[in-house]
Amino acid sequence: MSDQTHLDPNVPGNPAYHFTILPAGSPSQVGWSRRAPLVPRARLATRCVHAGVQPDPAYGAVMPPIYLTSTFAFRDVCTNAGYDYTRSGNPTRAALEEAIAQLEGGIGATCTTTGMAAVTLVLNLLPAGSHVVATVDCYGGTFRTLEHAKVASNLKVTYLDLGDLAAVSKALEQETALVWIETPSNPLLRLTDIAAVAALARARGALTAVDNTFLSPVLQRPFEHGADLVVHSTTKYLNGHSDVVGGAVVAAPGRTALLQRIQSMNNLLGTSQSPHDCFLVLRGLKTLLLRMRAHEEGARQVAGFLAAHPAVARVFYPGLPGHPQHELARRQQDGFGGMLSFELKDGRPDRVNHVLRTLRWFTLAESLGGVESLVAHPASMTHASMTPEARARAGITDSVIRLSVGIEAPEDLIGDLGEALASLPH
Ligand SMILES: Cc1ncc(COP(=O)(O)O)c(C=O)c1O
Repeated sequence: MSDQTHLDPNVPGNPAYHFTILPAGSPSQVGWSRRAPLVPRARLATRCVHAGVQPDPAYGAVMPPIYLTSTFAFRDVCTNAGYDYTRSGNPTRAALEEAIAQLEGGIGATCTTTGMAAVTLVLNLLPAGSHVVATVDCYGGTFRTLEHAKVASNLKVTYLDLGDLAAVSKALEQETALVWIETPSNPLLRLTDIAAVAALARARGALTAVDNTFLSPVLQRPFEHGADLVVHSTTKYLNGHSDVVGGAVVAAPGRTALLQRIQSMNNLLGTSQSPHDCFLVLRGLKTLLLRMRAHEEGARQVAGFLAAHPAVARVFYPGLPGHPQHELARRQQDGFGGMLSFELKDGRPDRVNHVLRTLRWFTLAESLGGVESLVAHPASMTHASMTPEARARAGITDSVIRLSVGIEAPEDLIGDLGEALASLPH
């Protein structure tokens, strides 16, 4: 048998190889990255897959390479290819930043090591002594950071149920610099009317930042309602696979100076995300729309089941018609999301603990937004960093159980909850 018989036309070097190989570094290679930019009208599903991603200029790789380098060579004094040092900028991070900005409809973004780094970055934009109005039941870590800033930089903070617009209006003092909105809030799923609060803040010259972690840009885009900044813990839905921690801050359309300030602050604080982690989040984004639909379908069914269960006192889920802000959810959001909380009728610690320990498909763990379902006890876990008084003010009792509904079959999740509730201690 002659060697020629097995010539593979796909192996470079074989005489049968029929593609033209461009010499390394040839100017024409750059052409790969010159695909037409994303069409603004592209639908969300298309944007999730393509945002931020161009075929790599060196070899045409369809996924952006992980540029694992701390530094970049200069060709000459003051001449480089757009990057000098990875804390300040990195092509893999830039791809993720562009993708998140496009999904949120912002002008640009900066990606941070964690969601808390993103929160810290935003607070660092404020002059010492500023006044902040914040969602009363914000994430416990955000509360802890705000409390720290009260001591470290003389920040003044008013925690409010931002659904009470009269109270917001009253709280906005002359030197209020920022309104911090978490909607839906964590863990009680209270909603804030972003447009109404952002209008009040703007009238007083204050910035509005929205932590959009719970819904992701698939279900809520705060810039459409007048927000100035959007913040994410990308650890959650954006990455979606519970294998990375990260954060992002996005600036509103037209806010070039604000974008430059957040990018500069990320560099200044040294909180920029590693290229490897950026790559993972970028990969996660591609399935964001599909995952959010599955999370929501599961949560809708689980919420309905719990709401009808005789052992359950209350279910906190904006998708339920009985939720006090159901209409606002319909207006402001494109869906209701995958997070919900509930309270047992007799929320004794041993009964709550029974549910937490007995569930099979819901892992008892911190965090949310991954493909796998999680159950948490906010009072002792995610919101343990709040003082008992702050928890009481926010309405977070010791009997609140929070669910992050994953993408498993809803029937299995309901079966699991049904068994745990049926075997509650009397
Ligand atoms: C709404 C919200 N924002 C911010 C954060 C902080 O994010 P990270 O844990 O990535 O620092 C969390 C974490 O649970 C969160 O739930």
